[in-house]
Amino acid sequence: MGIVLQGATIVTSESVERSDLRIVGETIAEIGLDLVQPGDQLIPADGCYLFPGGVDPHTHFDLDVGGTVTADDFFSGSRAALAGGTTTVIDYATQSRGGSLVDALAVWRVKAAGKSFVDYGFHVALCECNEAVLEELSGLPETDGVVSVKLYMAYKNVLQVDDGILLQVMRTCRERGILVCLHCENGDLIETLTGEAIAAGRFGPDQHAAARPEVVEVEAVFRALAIVELTGCPVYVVHVSSARALSIIEAAQRRGLPVWAETCPQYLLLDESLYRLAGFESAKYVMSPPLRTRYDQEGLWRGIGEGVVCSLGSDHCSFNFRGQKELGREDFSRIPNGIPGVENRFGLLFSSGVAAGRISLQKFVSLVSTGPARRFGLYPGKGALQVGSDADVVVWDPAGRSVISVRSQTQRVDYNAYEGFEQIGVPRQVFLRGRLAAEAGKICGGPHGKYQQGHVR
Ligand code: URP
Ligand code: ZN
Repeated sequence: MGIVLQGATIVTSESVERSDLRIVGETIAEIGLDLVQPGDQLIPADGCYLFPGGVDPHTHFDLDVGGTVTADDFFSGSRAALAGGTTTVIDYATQSRGGSLVDALAVWRVKAAGKSFVDYGFHVALCECNEAVLEELSGLPETDGVVSVKLYMAYKNVLQVDDGILLQVMRTCRERGILVCLHCENGDLIETLTGEAIAAGRFGPDQHAAARPEVVEVEAVFRALAIVELTGCPVYVVHVSSARALSIIEAAQRRGLPVWAETCPQYLLLDESLYRLAGFESAKYVMSPPLRTRYDQEGLWRGIGEGVVCSLGSDHCSFNFRGQKELGREDFSRIPNGIPGVENRFGLLFSSGVAAGRISLQKFVSLVSTGPARRFGLYPGKGALQVGSDADVVVWDPAGRSVISVRSQTQRVDYNAYEGFEQIGVPRQVFLRGRLAAEAGKICGGPHGKYQQGHVR
């Protein structure tokens, strides 16, 4: 007995085709016309698109940032993902000082187990390195199905690694087929600029952006790519925020270096004018890198069009305004960095990309699902609508409308950075491995998410 989604248009990263889709058990069994068999459940989807479930390659659920923990854990964060059309997240299992990578993964497995409403994988985030850590890292694809490691070039004395570690880790990863995710900002410059602002009595949240100008991102991207050139290691630059940083990546791609770029909805849709809001309101937009200019937004859209950007992550790292962002009321450097967005990533890109005529349907699927699934070794189980793939399917009604608001969101955080934005199109149904998991924005059933092993490409 199967489920037949009938009357829709199937969209993949390569094609747009009027077809029906039949699900049997957890997988896609058939794609075509006249698929209904006796006993099948028929779901009319006329006028809708069928998209592969979203794959969000960049979340931080249940992350302790030293003194405060993100507002969303795996339970609330994954519910929000599902409500918005995302069926897989890849979260950063972050090494603690003095701890190992294996410890970090063990901690993250416990955080996620039995709580996730979507399927999930992990990257490890490495902040301390020695021979033992490099050894562990080498084994992760086989032992844990973890095929990516993140290195931070910022957050001095907390997460930041130096160039020597970048070199060593990239050498190891090149050998093992592990993808290196890079947070590119020069943490030393940021540390000094931050200290100078505070010494001069400039304590407001606008100073966060002032201490992290575009050039600190540009320099870090350039330096990282020098190490890619030395090692030949494939890298994925997370949350690219500026047109200049992207142009350096583009030039490296043209020279044949193995580098991919991710951006996020916040860098496409929000800009630095939000740091001029009255009072402490700007703290809601304290994230790293900070928001940039409209010119940068246009550069990122151009990069999407030209294929320089392969993936859209939410970088969901939510902190309540009350009690959490407020920790930095007297000193911007104490504002926890990050914004919520896992729930809105999919719908925002459809609205501002497809509905606004900026990108094609195929490009949309590529950015929100297929691109990240491919990069992180989950394709074609995830990120695909093809026979044999997991039946993670979004029935998307392009005629639907909603207004993004904290009042109606599923995310467990007290604001929404996109408050009042109109979303064009809504997820009518979301299937996770063949099971109806969300309908009309409401979650159906419990946390059935399963851990997904990545495969070295
Ligand atoms: O501000 C941000 N992006 N916080 C999350 C951690 C990171 O830098 O990705
Ligand atoms: Zn992040």
